[in-house]
Amino acid sequence: MTDQAHADPGDQPGKPTAVSRTTLSHIMSGNETNLLGTVHGGVIMKLVDDAAGAVAGRHSEGPAVTASMDEMVFLEPVRVGDLVHVKAQVNWTGRSSMEVGVRVLAERWNESTPASHVGSAYLVFAAVDEDGRPRPVAQVVPESEQDKRRYQEAQIRRTHRLARRREIKELRARRTVESGG
Ligand SMILES: CC(C)(COP(=O)(O)OP(=O)(O)OC[C@H]1O[C@@H](n2cnc3c(N)ncnc32)[C@H](O)[C@@H]1OP(=O)(O)O)[C@@H](O)C(=O)NCCC(=O)NCCS
Repeated sequence: MTDQAHADPGDQPGKPTAVSRTTLSHIMSGNETNLLGTVHGGVIMKLVDDAAGAVAGRHSEGPAVTASMDEMVFLEPVRVGDLVHVKAQVNWTGRSSMEVGVRVLAERWNESTPASHVGSAYLVFAAVDEDGRPRPVAQVVPESEQDKRRYQEAQIRRTHRLARRREIKELRARRTVESGG
C-alpha cells in the first residue's frame, strides 16, 4: 500500500452508484465465434472488462486498472446476431479499489423478445495516478435496496479475496522456510 493510497478517501464527497452506471451494447458478428459457432467467451470477457473499466474510470474520475476478475459465470451461449448489453456498476469501494459488478444480457438483434441473462462477473479495479500508484477514490453511495444488497455482498467477496491472498502468501512463506529456500 502506497502513501498516495493512504490519503483519506473521506476528503472526497461520496458518489451515488447511479452516477457511473453504464451499459455497453454490441451486435455479435461472425468473426467472434469459437469452433462451435457460438461467440467466444473471451470476446464477452473483453466487453465485460471494457464496460467495467469505463465505470471505474467514471467513478474515480481518472485512470483505473483491472486488479482482478472473479466469478465470471456464463449461463447461456451467445450467438452471432445477438445484441449484447453489458451493464456495469460500482458495487463497493475501498480506499483505492472498486468492485464493479457486471451483468450481460443478450437479445436477437431483429426480434422484440425479452433479453436473457447470459452471464455475470465481478471485477476489482484500482484507481491509479500517472505513475501507476494507487490513488484514493470517492466512496460509492448505494441508494436503492438492490444497490445496498450488492454493496453488502461485495464486502463478503472482498473479505474472502483478502483472506485467500493472505493464506496463500503465508503458505508459500512456510514452504520456503521448510525447503530451506
Ligand atoms: C492493481 C495494482 C495497482 C495494485 O498495486 P499495489 O501496489 O499492490 O497496491 P495495493 O496493495 O495498495 O492495492 C491497491 C488496492 O487494490 C486492491 N487489490 C490489489 N490487488 C488485488 C487483487 N488481486 N484482488 C483484489 N483487490 C486487489 C487492494 O486491496 C487495494 O485496495 P484498497 O486500497 O481499496 O484497500 C498493481 O498490482 C497493478 O498495477 N497491477 C497491474 C494492473 C494492470 O495492469 N491491469 C491490466 C492488466 S493488462
